[in-house]
Amino acid sequence: MKGIILAGGLGTRLYPATHSISKQLLPIYDKPMIYYPLCTLLLAGISDILIITTPHEQPLFQRLLQDGSQFGIHLSYTIQTHPEGIAQAFLLSEAFIQHSSVCLVLGDNIVYGDGLSQKLQEAAKQTSGATIFGYAVSDPTRYGIIYFDKTNHPSHIIEKPTDSLSNYAVIGLYFYDYHVVDIAKQLQPSARGELEITDINNYYLGVNQLRVEKLGRGIAWLDMGTHQSMLEAANFIHVLEQRQGLKIGSPEEIAWRMGLISSEQLEKLATLQCKNSYGEYLLNLITS
Ligand code: DAU
Repeated sequence: MKGIILAGGLGTRLYPATHSISKQLLPIYDKPMIYYPLCTLLLAGISDILIITTPHEQPLFQRLLQDGSQFGIHLSYTIQTHPEGIAQAFLLSEAFIQHSSVCLVLGDNIVYGDGLSQKLQEAAKQTSGATIFGYAVSDPTRYGIIYFDKTNHPSHIIEKPTDSLSNYAVIGLYFYDYHVVDIAKQLQPSARGELEITDINNYYLGVNQLRVEKLGRGIAWLDMGTHQSMLEAANFIHVLEQRQGLKIGSPEEIAWRMGLISSEQLEKLATLQCKNSYGEYLLNLITS
């Protein structure tokens, strides 16, 4: 299973498009936003990851994350020239995916909670069809929404519906078999001019190949698409980390716990930032 982080887009909900900066490089409390989706892939056991960025910001992402060997993984990079839709990720990554299954995670999504790693690893084991995750939200008009029939089977998915007959949003984390590339090639842009991930999910649903897993109360899902949701996410991470003394979304820690890097390698990473509490936390992991 390969992984893709989609970290392009113009962030036009945050800045004017003419001088935007990728929000995925900005910190959400004590680490860059992109660390959170990166950790989601690490927890799923995925270590070959393609990062899709805007052309002008690719060097910044490369500077931050390098080739991934510091985390015991392999990172490669490609560009999306214009934000023409989430599903375009599969057209841009055809050579990377080849005949592998693939997990796409949006660069502005955090998913966190008890039992999550197991769910992710189970989804990553699937070699045919698709798996998506549904999450109850209070503002369904902002998301792709899954509708269920009377027998509780998913019947269809609508992107940003105007009604609120269902409140199960599709989170920005998708597992597909390699056919996803051919499916993406058949897509037409939607009314908003994008290749829609919802159209891919509806395709798999139509051929009875879509698994929808509902995430319950024990899992937190945050999408950081607006100033307000970025602040809420930062507060959420801050409160939990302060209370528990454990970090959320630390690729160094996850890589170490998953045996991708040794204690010596972790110590080296920690020493690079020993002047802040993040580095101190990493050092403490080895000594405690
Ligand atoms: O967050 C989950 C939702 O993400 C899903 O429920 C929706 O079905 C899905 O369409 C998507 O909705 P959004 O409206 O939140 O997508 P947005 O355009 O904000 O893009 C999400 C992220 O992907 C954002 O960080 C920018 C990046 N992106 C987006 C597009 C359209 C790209 O890198 N390239 C793109 O072409």
